[in-house]
Amino acid sequence: MTKIFVRKVTTHVLQEMKLKGEKIAMLTGYDFSMARLLEAAGIDIVLVGDSASNVMAGHTSTLPITLDQMIYHASSVVRAISRALVVVDLPFGTYQGNSKEALHSAIRIMKESGADAVKMEGGKEVLESVDRILSAGIPVMGHLGLTPQSIHKFGTYVVRATEEGEANKLVADSNLLEKAGCFALVLEKIPAKLGAQVALELKIPVIGIGAGGYVDGQVLVLHDMLGITQDFSPRFLRRYHNLSEEIQGSVRAYIKDIKSRDFPNEKEQY
Ligand code: KIV
Repeated sequence: MTKIFVRKVTTHVLQEMKLKGEKIAMLTGYDFSMARLLEAAGIDIVLVGDSASNVMAGHTSTLPITLDQMIYHASSVVRAISRALVVVDLPFGTYQGNSKEALHSAIRIMKESGADAVKMEGGKEVLESVDRILSAGIPVMGHLGLTPQSIHKFGTYVVRATEEGEANKLVADSNLLEKAGCFALVLEKIPAKLGAQVALELKIPVIGIGAGGYVDGQVLVLHDMLGITQDFSPRFLRRYHNLSEEIQGSVRAYIKDIKSRDFPNEKEQY
């Protein structure tokens, strides 16, 4: 039997993909079963996003999820993955104010989940924490533009960096993060032209969610693109399925079969 060699996606591989102009495909994942499907389908990066706070736990923002809960989700995902790169969000309150605490949080994620990298929201304001985590050898993915952990500061989920001042800050922050040593950058909900500019300026891969088509890769929230969530329909979201209807249809059929005494039949019992 010939053994198939699967090349693990590393930060180095992502850099090569950018150089070759090969687009990077990233999706969120929060549990073992779904992560196994993502891996089998050939996804490049699984992001254990703090959007778990919304889609898994039902909160209205990403703020409530804890470090322990992120580690639980991340370790479930890691058990399903052999090829993809697994990146884990540092949750709100575990890195913003204190770089020592940031390093401690990142180390806990790496040690307790077995993930490959962490992601952090913000630019200059979190640079000290980014530096400290990087100096411990932990790869960091940046995240600029709409940063959901700051939603109470923004007060709205509208497109970010449409004004010159904010756009200039985003470009400056992108360069700072690259210079610090981040291996990739997520840009969320910004004008496509600005996304293109940053992707062109930076040597590291830029992955967009609502940042247009001229960046180096794309990410979506799994439950949104599968149509499990229906209450969230931004322009950038392409739905590949309508699973909420399919799941409800299956559950209705199951209930009907039980009530009508059709399930279980002779062949489905011992
Ligand atoms: O938590 C998340 O799902 C994210 C993506 C939106 C990039 O950070």
